[in-house]
Order: sequence, then C-alpha cells, then structure tokens
Amino acid sequence: MERKEEAQDEVHTHHLPLLTPYKMGNFQLSHRIVLAPLTRQRSYNNVPQPHAILYYSQRTTKGGLLIAEATGVSATAQGYPQTPGIWTKEQVEAWKPIVDAVHAKGGIFFCQIWHVGRVSNQGFQPNGQPPISCTDKPLTPQVRANGVDVAEFSPPQRLSTHEIPGVVNDFRIAARNAMEAGFDGVEIHGAHGYLIDQFMKDQVNDRTDEYGGSLENRCRFALEIVEAISNEIGADKVGIRLSPFANYSESGDSNPKALGLYMAESLNKYGILYCHMVEPRMVTVGEKSDSPHSLLPMRKAFNGTFLVAGGYNREDGIKAVAENRADLVVYGRLFLANPDLPKRFELNAPLNKYDRETFYIPDPVIGYTDYPFLGSTN
Ligand SMILES: Cc1cc2nc3c(=O)[nH]c(=O)nc-3n(C[C@H](O)[C@H](O)[C@H](O)COP(=O)(O)O)c2cc1C
Repeated sequence: MERKEEAQDEVHTHHLPLLTPYKMGNFQLSHRIVLAPLTRQRSYNNVPQPHAILYYSQRTTKGGLLIAEATGVSATAQGYPQTPGIWTKEQVEAWKPIVDAVHAKGGIFFCQIWHVGRVSNQGFQPNGQPPISCTDKPLTPQVRANGVDVAEFSPPQRLSTHEIPGVVNDFRIAARNAMEAGFDGVEIHGAHGYLIDQFMKDQVNDRTDEYGGSLENRCRFALEIVEAISNEIGADKVGIRLSPFANYSESGDSNPKALGLYMAESLNKYGILYCHMVEPRMVTVGEKSDSPHSLLPMRKAFNGTFLVAGGYNREDGIKAVAENRADLVVYGRLFLANPDLPKRFELNAPLNKYDRETFYIPDPVIGYTDYPFLGSTN
C-alpha cells in the first residue's frame, strides 16, 4: 500500500509543470524555476566580490536561469550602498569569475542592469551632484526595506531632452560590458520605481517634451533602451522587467493595465527574448495583498517568453505554469533562503525561512552563503 503511494508520488513529481524543460529562444532550460534579481549590498565600492562566486553557484542548476542582482549602468546609477556596477573595466573583470562559476555548473545567467534615477541622493552621486530623473519632483523620505532606516533623497535634476540619448547610451554600453563579462544576456530593470519606471508612470513623469504626456511618449525612453541594447547585443539576449501595477517610491500609474499592455505589444516589434512582470498583488516590496488585476492580458499580448514574479510559492508556481499563465516563475525570497530550491520543490521538501535582517547587510557569509542545503546538518 505504502509502496504504491510512493510510486504514484514519483510519477506525479516527474510531471510537475515547474520541472518540465522549456526552450527560451536559443536557451534550453531544464526547468521553470528562476532566481530573481536580488540586491544584496555586498559589492564593496560597487565592485562585485569573490564571495558572490559561491552565492550564485550555490543557486545554480544545470539548465536553470539566474538573474543577477541590479547592477548600475553608470556612475550616476547608484542609490544604495555596496551595489555592483558594470560601467568600469574593474567591475567587468570582477564579474567574470562569478559568471564562469555559474556556467561551470550549466546555469544560464542574465545581468539585470539598472539606473535608480531619483531614488538616490547626492551622497551616491559623482561630485555630489543631484540625482537625475525625468522630473525635478523630489521623493519623500522612505523607510528602507529593513523597516528601520529611513532613506533620504535629494531633489533630482530633470534631464533635458538632449541629455536623454546619453543615458540610453549608458544602458547600451552596460549591456555590451555584460556580454564582455560573459553573461548570456541582460535584463533591463524597468520596474520598481527606478529611472525607466519613473519615465513610464504618470504619477512621476511631468514632462512636456516627446518623453512625457501620452502613454507612447512616456514609454519612449524604455523602448529606446530596448532598441539600443537589441541592436548592440541581439534581441535574442534581451529581457525586460516591468511592474506596471506597483507604486514603489511614489511611482504609480493611473492606468497600469493600459501601460502593461502597451509595453507588451511594443516589445513585440523588437522581438526581445523575454518579458518579466511583477504581479499586481505586490503592492510594496515584500508584501502581498489581494488584487483584482492580473497579468494575463500582457501574457497573451507578448510573443516571447513570459516570466512572472511576486509572492509565488510552490503550489502557486505549479498552477501558473499548468494554466499557461507563465512560461517561467521567478522566486526571490524563497530562493535567497533555499539555495537548492528546485530540488526542494521537486521533493516537496520543507523550506528554510528567510531572515529579513540579513538581506542587505555587508557580511560576505551571514545570510548570504550560509543557508543550509537539504540534508546538510548546518
Ligand atoms: C533582498 C531583496 C532584494 C531585491 N532586489 C531586487 C533587485 O535587485 N532587482 C529587482 O528587480 N527586484 C529586486 N527585488 C524584488 C524581487 O526580485 C522579487 O520581485 C520580490 O522579492 C518578490 O518576489 P518573492 O515573493 O518571490 O520574494 C528584491 C527583493 C528582495 C527581498
């Protein structure tokens, strides 16, 4: 009797939708569980460190997709301590052994490239200059993700129309650098209230030039970046992350569904590899709430691979793939705390709990590479 149940379990396991292979463009993925981009603030002086080799390789599976933490495209891109960049030769060289380690275990590794825009202050900026944005509207001080510290922001400098191509070019060069570092592709960070999202959202963008006003105008900056990067490295190596429904850092939109749909449809023109969207239920970073909205219209509109993220657990992810609401499911906090997450999902094994307190500390081990693997006595 028991044996029979076991056998049935096994059959069931092998048909787990999350564990079926998937062909994403030229990449043959062995399963659907993706490591989310996760800022860990352990890249001292904006240079990736050797301890990231172990961190990423712990989370690598053969044929698994990993998205690296948000990585600055230029000296003006930063807004948090100890986050990595990819605009200097030193940074590119420092990424190489990390990428090599992921490749050695058969992983596919994309670099998330970002610019924080006004989510910054003069302390993070070259020569103490104001941060740049689409607007000069300041951001009110915000409680940091640790729930304790309050982040202060300097009033931003509104980019003039003729300065915008320079920022697009920074993204293009960062993408080229990512390929030079060995990454398999890049994910453009167009989510969560950072620079690209600031342009897209009508709560922030108050421009009167061709980058403001209509939906088409507000999305122009994002699509120019998509185009520039696609021309530089090939659209088959380009993904983008979007969070039309989110309003982090006072970056909300009055019609998020129209925005998400417009982007999904416009991205088709460039034939990029994937579109990665954050679920409407993620109202603030790390908090889940019920939402009447869904990503289904965008999933249907977009021709490439569709990734979803935000509050997924095992069952939820299985359902999303089984119901064809997503091709791949992106896991943040669960993957952070469970380096062997795909194995645990396969076995339906218990999960380690994540420790919020150590998400963003600079320690090279604690809360970073010391989460135990299944069966280890750690
Ligand atoms: C510690 C931490 C760091 C994060 N850093 C990034 C980041 O660099 N880029 C990004 O797009 N999202 C970032 N996020 C959001 C996650 O990628 C993910 O969308 C979010 O945690 C919700 O997914 P989850 O419920 O699976 O954790 C971060 C989240 C956490 C908890």
